[in-house]
Amino acid sequence: MARPYYVTTPIYYVNDRPHIGHAYSTVAADVVSRYQAIRGKPSYFLTGLDEHGLKIERRAKEEALAPQDFVDRMAAPFREAWEELDCQHHGFIRTTSAQHKENVQALWKRMEERGDIYLDDYEDWYCVGCESFKTEKELLEGNLCPIHKKPVERIKERSYFFRLSNYTQPLLDYYEEHPDFVQPDSRFNEVKSFVREGLRDLSISRTSFRWGIPVPGDPEHVIYVWLDALTNYISALGGPAEEGEEPLFDEFWRNAGTITHIVGKDILRFHAIYWPAFLLSAGVRLPTHVWAHGWLTVNGEKMSKSLGNFLPPGPLVEAFGADVLRYYFMREVGFGQDGDFSHRNLINRYNGELANGLGNLMNRIVASILKKSLDGQVPSIDLGALDDSDRALISKAQSSVEEAAKHYEALAFHRALDTIWELVSAANKYVDSTEPWMLAKQDDKTRLRQVCYTVLETLRWVSIMLFPVMPQKCNELRAQLGMPPLLPTEQVDLWPSAWGGLRPGAQTKPSTPLFPRFDEAQERSILERLGVERPAEDDKKANAMTESEPSKDDFIEFDDFMKLDLRVGLVKTAERVEKSKKLLKLGIDAGESAPRQILAGISEHYAPEDLVGKRVVIVANLKPRKLMGLESQGMVLAASDDDRLSVLVVERDVEPGSRAK
Ligand code: MSP
Repeated sequence: MARPYYVTTPIYYVNDRPHIGHAYSTVAADVVSRYQAIRGKPSYFLTGLDEHGLKIERRAKEEALAPQDFVDRMAAPFREAWEELDCQHHGFIRTTSAQHKENVQALWKRMEERGDIYLDDYEDWYCVGCESFKTEKELLEGNLCPIHKKPVERIKERSYFFRLSNYTQPLLDYYEEHPDFVQPDSRFNEVKSFVREGLRDLSISRTSFRWGIPVPGDPEHVIYVWLDALTNYISALGGPAEEGEEPLFDEFWRNAGTITHIVGKDILRFHAIYWPAFLLSAGVRLPTHVWAHGWLTVNGEKMSKSLGNFLPPGPLVEAFGADVLRYYFMREVGFGQDGDFSHRNLINRYNGELANGLGNLMNRIVASILKKSLDGQVPSIDLGALDDSDRALISKAQSSVEEAAKHYEALAFHRALDTIWELVSAANKYVDSTEPWMLAKQDDKTRLRQVCYTVLETLRWVSIMLFPVMPQKCNELRAQLGMPPLLPTEQVDLWPSAWGGLRPGAQTKPSTPLFPRFDEAQERSILERLGVERPAEDDKKANAMTESEPSKDDFIEFDDFMKLDLRVGLVKTAERVEKSKKLLKLGIDAGESAPRQILAGISEHYAPEDLVGKRVVIVANLKPRKLMGLESQGMVLAASDDDRLSVLVVERDVEPGSRAK
């Protein structure tokens, strides 16, 4: 029985319109939810809006609107953005809804009954941008908030407090018992060391403004906006509630197999410390994971209105389509890392991976060979007559399916996509080497059928593996394969398992290419439409940023690449070259009768003894040349950034002289 999966995004402040930072979290949660759904799990995906607090009250005032009118107006663009991005949330919570307010007050009462709330005087610093109290220690010079770089405000008022200090040890115990509660691990370590220092009680009510939920029994106070906001995760399901009272709360909270909160790294503390402490106090179960992702910059710069690079997702969806943008978000940056949104990278990935990779594979077989030579029908084949190359591709597909599942489960979306793309390129290579266009010329079409079927079935598997990220494109792909759309069904696992599910005789329906390549004129017009300027300076900057992402003019043919004779070399000896600050003289076993002498300019980064015994990669067919009077018979590969250099080392003990390709 597949147990329910609950995934949430943060609820977004409605003081501004949605931007790609919000879209990034929302797409990630949608991918998780869709993945779990095709695995047969009941899945619930919640997103919504954080509509209370001083920040919103002030923004409404600036707009000369009553706060409720203001938030009502701001809610629509968020709903529209998620619809445009094909994010199929099951719940959309607004903190001004009656259901939410009641549940926040119910949670408050439970914490109060537990004896964890008391009234006292409060005096400290407050950042309205963060809606959070700051200790003196955290502030930058001039009493600036370290995140918003704006002055904090001094607050002195009567306030209710939550006995957070009582939860230092219970939280540490919980962390100990749940070593994957916070992801990634590095962030979990930060959380633990913060808690280990001891927690202070938390002020959880305000009297100096009105825009919030009244404290039960003391309406002079409104409930602190973070306590209000965090409760959305259960209030949307009808909780806190007793067993049997609220079916959604029972299914997706109380009895859920997994509860995952996806949050940005900046709001991790609220989710990994305050939220579990509130729940412990109220006697409600805790979430399974809090996943903190990194921040996106835009073309190398922090997103901000004043820099004019505040990117709403709408125009990007219009230019590239929802699936391409979703793919780019999930592919470009390791989830958990900071990363950059670059229009050019997006176009490069589109042309390189989607058009040339998957699109090309599809066109070569479905729109071309199959149509011309096999009446466009899925051929029948003899699974017992597979040859080694067929078996190799099938086994690659089988290992990819396992790997990709592991990565999806761990929210390592970029790895899942890497794995899928390795399969796509293995399938393209298989087409290169089996040359179906030659097989089509033979009278006996047995081998052609074999090859086409193997590619078509691989494509069917890809249509499932890629579905969570690109649902529309995958269904288009399936339609072209003559297959119905993928329909997630509870308790039915649709993940590929047995090879050969594609029905022989089915009529494929080649249609417009899935990913037509952008030519230069189209690229230019898209960039112009999106307002990405292209003066010479900008081009230089963009090229520098995308150095590792060749534009289509920079592509080389495979044969060009094969001209490079890259080999594994085992470093046998290493010594400094006299009078040279940089050079090391290496004796490298490259599988030849005697070690080669190679000079490498790395002595500022490596001591000779650190290199001996390492398997490095050498360019073996580089013309020998003399440096400081010594002949260098090749080159050792290394990568460097501004201040570090690393020699490329081979991970496993493959034989010296083995070709790297
Ligand atoms: N309302 C609170 C969350 C309450 S959750 C109970 C809030 N809202 S927010 O609108 O300011 O931010 C919402 C999310 O957007 C955060 O997770 C934040 O990390 C994320 N992002 C905002 N800008 C971002 C980028 N530039 N890149 C990636 N995500 C970023 O905080």
